[in-house]
Amino acid sequence: MIKIFKPCDFHVHLREGDLAKQVLAENNKQFQKILIMPNLNIPITNSKLLNKYRKHLLKNNKNLEILFTIYLNQNCSIKELSEMKKKKLFFSVKLYPKNATTNSSSGVSDIKKMTKFFEFLEKNEVPLCVHGEHVQFNDDPFEREKKFLDIELHWIRKNFPNLKITLEHITTKDSIDFVKQHNLIGATVTTHHLLENTYTFFGNHLKPELFCKPIIKNAKHQQALQKVVLSGHKKFFFGSDSAPHLKSKKFTEFCCAGVYSTKYSISNIIEFFYRNKKQSNLDKFLTLNGNNHYNLDYYREKITFRRNSNYKFKRFSKFKNDHLINYNFYKNFWSSI
Ligand code: DOR
Ligand code: ZN
Repeated sequence: MIKIFKPCDFHVHLREGDLAKQVLAENNKQFQKILIMPNLNIPITNSKLLNKYRKHLLKNNKNLEILFTIYLNQNCSIKELSEMKKKKLFFSVKLYPKNATTNSSSGVSDIKKMTKFFEFLEKNEVPLCVHGEHVQFNDDPFEREKKFLDIELHWIRKNFPNLKITLEHITTKDSIDFVKQHNLIGATVTTHHLLENTYTFFGNHLKPELFCKPIIKNAKHQQALQKVVLSGHKKFFFGSDSAPHLKSKKFTEFCCAGVYSTKYSISNIIEFFYRNKKQSNLDKFLTLNGNNHYNLDYYREKITFRRNSNYKFKRFSKFKNDHLINYNFYKNFWSSI
């Protein structure tokens, strides 16, 4: 048995419409708080789009705390951001480099053009969440994260020293080192980047359900991630990057990037800490570090989880005439009681 606070997921994609309803229901079961990403088909760049999205989600929510993000690009308006911030309609903004991932074609191609926005965020204490990949024609996808640190993130940190930054879904030892060495920057880590590596992803059979951005890295990087997460280091916390895509869009010629992990993430994370005899650091990774990074309060009631060895995992969850593919790693399941 393990007792932990109800966890928080500081990076999740709910999508929109009926899919968002279904994914939100799953999140209500697993989490006390989620920070949701704004890369919808039409990205949330203004108050009209945000209000519509808020309405839809809040109507279908139970008691989960939802933190909203704005999709930052050159079309955003400082005036609007300022008004929305005053009304506490959003919590953070998300920077997507153009074409780095799903629905990022309206992302940013030159961060220097975003200076006035960074100044606004810094002054108004709005956290900047970043997808940390530098993308270029004919580049090597395995090098994108490191390049982003050297080119973009270094520049942002240097020029906006009081801006709070979250480097999302880190996958490399380079990012761990960068985050440790700089002030006011924390990082989220996903379940799949923690538990998988290039060998498990395509060393034998190719597993399309594990295709995501940033791409899963080799065992050396994976071990660096595992070490820092197990240590409970205060700058590293859970953000699943759980990203639902339909089975028909994953198991096909052009596989979409994204791993849908919400259903079994917490069970997988508990099992990972349990096997490494670090259960005492679970609350840090799943609740405390993220809330401390963002200066947020959290709900303190503890939940008990029990380990089951004969659990039947659901590989697919039905959605309309299609399915979502549930990511799971371990054979044991931790159920809440
Ligand atoms: O693989 C990914 N999928 N990475 C992201 O950053 C976005 C996500 C999505 O929205 O599908
Ligand atoms: Zn994401």
